[in-house]
Amino acid sequence: MPNALVTGASGGIGAFYADRLAARGHDLVLVARSTDKLEALARDLRARYGIQAEMITADLTDPAQVVRVVDRIRSGTPIDILINNAGANVASSFAKVADAELEALIRLNVTAPTLLTRAAIAGMASRGTGAIVNIGSVIGLATELTSGIYGATKAYMLTFSQSLAHEFGPAGVYVQAVLPGATRTDIWRHSGRNIDEIDGLMEVDDLVDAALAGFDRREAVTIPPLPDVRQWEAFEAARLAMRPNFANGKPAGRYV
Ligand SMILES: NC(=O)c1ccc[n+]([C@@H]2O[C@H](COP(=O)([O-])OP(=O)(O)OC[C@H]3O[C@@H](n4cnc5c(N)ncnc54)[C@H](OP(=O)(O)O)[C@@H]3O)[C@@H](O)[C@H]2O)c1
Repeated sequence: MPNALVTGASGGIGAFYADRLAARGHDLVLVARSTDKLEALARDLRARYGIQAEMITADLTDPAQVVRVVDRIRSGTPIDILINNAGANVASSFAKVADAELEALIRLNVTAPTLLTRAAIAGMASRGTGAIVNIGSVIGLATELTSGIYGATKAYMLTFSQSLAHEFGPAGVYVQAVLPGATRTDIWRHSGRNIDEIDGLMEVDDLVDAALAGFDRREAVTIPPLPDVRQWEAFEAARLAMRPNFANGKPAGRYV
C-alpha cells in the first residue's frame, strides 16, 4: 500500500485526510507544528487501523524546517501520495496586515507546497505512479469574497495543479486540485472570523469524503460544494477556447 504524507495533519481537513487514508491502509507521514496533536493522532491511527505513522514537527513558513520535510520525502520510504493541505489566512485586511505576515502566508500556502511537490514528484514519475493532492479553495475562483492575497494563493494551487497534471500526467502521476467551500474548521477562528456567521458551512468529514470520491475517479479538479459540474466544465472550456488566440504577434484591434 502506498505511503502518504499529509501536511497540516494536526487538525481540520488534514486530520480527516489522515484518518481516511489510514482507514484505507496507507502508512502515513504527518506534518504540522503541534507535536502533541500529531502524537495523539498517530497513536490513535496506529491503534485503530494498524498502520505505521511517522511525524515531522515543522513550521512550513520556515525555509529550514521545510527542508527537513523535503529531506524526508527524498530519503525515507517513498511517498506515493502527497496531500498539500496545510494553509492559513491572515486576520487583518490587506491594507493593515504586516509585510512579514504576508510573506509567511505566501511561504505556507505557496512556497512550501511547491517545494514538497518538487521533492516528491520526480520519484513518482520515475516509478510511474503517484498522486499529488493540492488543497485550493473556491475563493481561488471567487477572489472578491475575501481581502488581500488568500484567494490568489489558492488560485495558485489550482493553476499549479493544472500545470503539473499536463507535465507529469503522461509519466503516471495523478494530480488533483481540491477546491473546498467554507468548511467547519479552526481556520475561521485563526483568521479572526466568527464561524457562526458563515453561510453554507460544510462538515469536514463530508468535505474530505467528497474529495476522496473525486480522487478515486481521478478528477483533475474536485469542487465538493458545486452542485452542477457543468458550470466548472463550461468555465474550463471557455479558458481552453481562448488558448489558440493568444499566439498573435500584433496587439488586438481594440488596442490600435
Ligand atoms: N476550512 C475552510 O473553510 C477552507 C475552505 C477552503 C480551503 N481551505 C483550505 O484547507 C486547508 C486546511 O485548512 P483547515 O480549514 O483544515 O484549517 P485548520 O483547521 O486551521 O488546519 C490547518 C492545519 O495546517 C497546519 N498549519 C497551519 N500553519 C502551519 C505552519 N506554519 N506550518 C505547518 N503547518 C501549519 C495546522 O497545524 P498546526 O497549527 O499544528 O501547525 C493544521 O493542522 C488550507 O489549505 C485551507 O486554505 C479551508
